[in-house]
Amino acid sequence: MAARSITPFEPTRHSGFAPKTVPESKSEPPNTAVEILEERSDVSNHRENGLYIAMLSIHGLVRSFDLELGRDADTGGQVTYVVELLKALSKRPDIRKVDLFTRRIIDRKVDDSYAVNCEKVTDKGSIIRIDFGPRRYLRKEVLWPHLDDGVNSILSYFRNIRQIPDIIHGHYADAGYMAARLSAILGIPMVFTGHSLGKVKYERLLNKGMKKERIEEVFRISRRINAEEYALKKAGLVVASTYQETNYQYAEYKNYKKSRACVIPPGVDLTRFHTSVSPRPAILSDIRKFWKEPDKPIILALSRPDTRKNIPGLIKTFADNDVLKKKANLLIIAGNREDIRKMDSEPRKVLEEILILIDAYDLYGRVAIPKHHNSEDVPKIYRMTVSSRGVFVNPALTEPFGLTLIEAAACGVPIVTTNDGGPRDIIRHCKNGILVDPLDTEEMGYAIETMLSDQRTWSKYSRSGARNVQKQYSWESHVETCLRQIRRRLTSGKKTVRKPVRRSVLPTLDRLIICDLDNTLLGDSAALENFFTLIREQTFKVGFGVASGRQFKSAMKELKRWDIPVPDILITGVGTEIFYGTTMTSDRGWTSRIRHRWEPDHIRNVVKNLPGINIQPKTEQTPYKLSYYIDPAKAPGIRQIRRILADQQLVARVVFSLGMYLDFIPIRASKGAAIRFLAKNWHLPMSHILVAGDSGNDRDMLQTVPQAVVVGNHSKEIKSLKRQTGIYFAEASHAAGIIEGIKYFDLLAHPFNNSTHSEGE
Ligand code: GLC
Ligand code: MG
Repeated sequence: MAARSITPFEPTRHSGFAPKTVPESKSEPPNTAVEILEERSDVSNHRENGLYIAMLSIHGLVRSFDLELGRDADTGGQVTYVVELLKALSKRPDIRKVDLFTRRIIDRKVDDSYAVNCEKVTDKGSIIRIDFGPRRYLRKEVLWPHLDDGVNSILSYFRNIRQIPDIIHGHYADAGYMAARLSAILGIPMVFTGHSLGKVKYERLLNKGMKKERIEEVFRISRRINAEEYALKKAGLVVASTYQETNYQYAEYKNYKKSRACVIPPGVDLTRFHTSVSPRPAILSDIRKFWKEPDKPIILALSRPDTRKNIPGLIKTFADNDVLKKKANLLIIAGNREDIRKMDSEPRKVLEEILILIDAYDLYGRVAIPKHHNSEDVPKIYRMTVSSRGVFVNPALTEPFGLTLIEAAACGVPIVTTNDGGPRDIIRHCKNGILVDPLDTEEMGYAIETMLSDQRTWSKYSRSGARNVQKQYSWESHVETCLRQIRRRLTSGKKTVRKPVRRSVLPTLDRLIICDLDNTLLGDSAALENFFTLIREQTFKVGFGVASGRQFKSAMKELKRWDIPVPDILITGVGTEIFYGTTMTSDRGWTSRIRHRWEPDHIRNVVKNLPGINIQPKTEQTPYKLSYYIDPAKAPGIRQIRRILADQQLVARVVFSLGMYLDFIPIRASKGAAIRFLAKNWHLPMSHILVAGDSGNDRDMLQTVPQAVVVGNHSKEIKSLKRQTGIYFAEASHAAGIIEGIKYFDLLAHPFNNSTHSEGE
């Protein structure tokens, strides 16, 4: 018999007979349970029918029609980007399926369409809205605390459809963080597109004189930067839109590796943005009413009312230049507004400044700034500008990309734009305009003037822009390059790239067996082998989990010592931590959930005065588990200890095991609670799970899961469970007892899922 010693105060950690001692040197990691399972499953073989790509874009208002661009700071270019990418990907024969995940919003202040769970966009592409955090619409800066819950909701979605994507692609820091977590948990390669970066914003705000503390308070900038670092660490491919981004922006990050980055400019929707004439937009009459002479060439600016976009700079340019004022009208499309007085402070200030400038320079009759427009109007506005032989101006102080420039170019509008990252690339590729210093109003004015008065230049730029956009900035070509990079770097397993780790089978499991380690799974190596043979023989997918009182490192070491495959799920520290194979990524959602009312210092202070109770070594303590040895002969009874804690207003779970161990853990934690949590997240019905244990710290897990096995060599403190239904007391000990229980419950006899999940893999 290989039970652990139960003599109080002389605990021998590895009293059990183990078949193998672990050499100190690093050896090959053992085969994972997953690998064993993959040998007889088709989990990883569906790539022949094309890839399943999961994209994540979490904030803002995301839908595939009538985009509310410019409605707020979170609903802008990125939304267009991800929706267009979704559409373009789903047109490809080598794509099986593409889902765009975003947060589901239920809020009277926004349209009902953002509450729809699944919005089918094309035959292969959908927007999937996931519930997490509060239901109402929230700005991205306050979503941070909810992202881990979002990760679990997405996992649960995969589990439900019983498919794991081949690639996960995160957009922006928030979704980049979530994608990185999912990539680690599921063992799938990740792509990251930052869109804009926290460090750049931080620098800009500092330069503007904003205080560090204030930046932190308003923008949670360090959370964002950390998330970006994490995403860069995990991503095998980083997609940037411009070289400025890779060379000067991503380059600021510790975890950025040039070799993993690729500049692939986004495309423009050429079915919307093109040169053929369209009927006059309804918005035209709205616009014309601003102007005294509505038939003059249009100088167009179109952007969110953002300080960085420098719209006031353009107004000053116009006001100071008599030629421009005489020759042209100014058209400013700066988002939509109802009542400026009720807007957020940044757009409010910008709009106020614009209106004050119009008044100060007396530009009435020359400047149009309509209150409303929708995304359908935008191409028409460009074409209207073309018919007037006008020009598009982007006076932004900085411009990482400048999607509007490409849209304007596609419609044949020549451009005058700020001399910065995105525009530089665009002008180089499209040869359709002039770069200017946005702070030099004279220079900007002169450039616009040239464009308006030199008809040959105007025509040349107009044609060249439309033609080159087709070549350089179509979504088709974007997706083509992107998939080529993905194939080369991520799915072919080439050496130079991060080889994808083994894919997790968690979302596709039919059954799950979770065993306690010491004295349950361990103790009899022959029986242990029989146990794994039994699992391996099954034609459907049986997951293997471990739930131990040990902390992570010690549990892993013990598994290795017994030559046990890395489990699909590892619960450690008496249910205070959950790790997922194949990468043993911890579930942070669980950690943040159990934190509730946990006061370890206070408990330590109370317990240190109790007789017969001695603290276990440091290595056994974790942030969420305080562990002691207890001598029941000298110490107060467990009930009494609970009462002492209660008297101190302390809330904790007190766990007594093997007649000698005493653990304090957060009230919300336990092996059973951890299993309930993960079963819910992975959509695993409790009836598909079997647990096995032997001692006090298994008690609640044995009571929680309807199919529970107590091995023959169990300890005294759980004898009382004998009377409860659903708990089987095996004759045999250790792993042999587990096998006996599996047979007793007929767990592996009839696959539960054959009919219900026929569309799975
Ligand atoms: C494991 C842990 C120990 C804990 C005991 C009971 O042996 O290593 O710290 O007290 O389980 O849960
Ligand atoms: Mg045990």
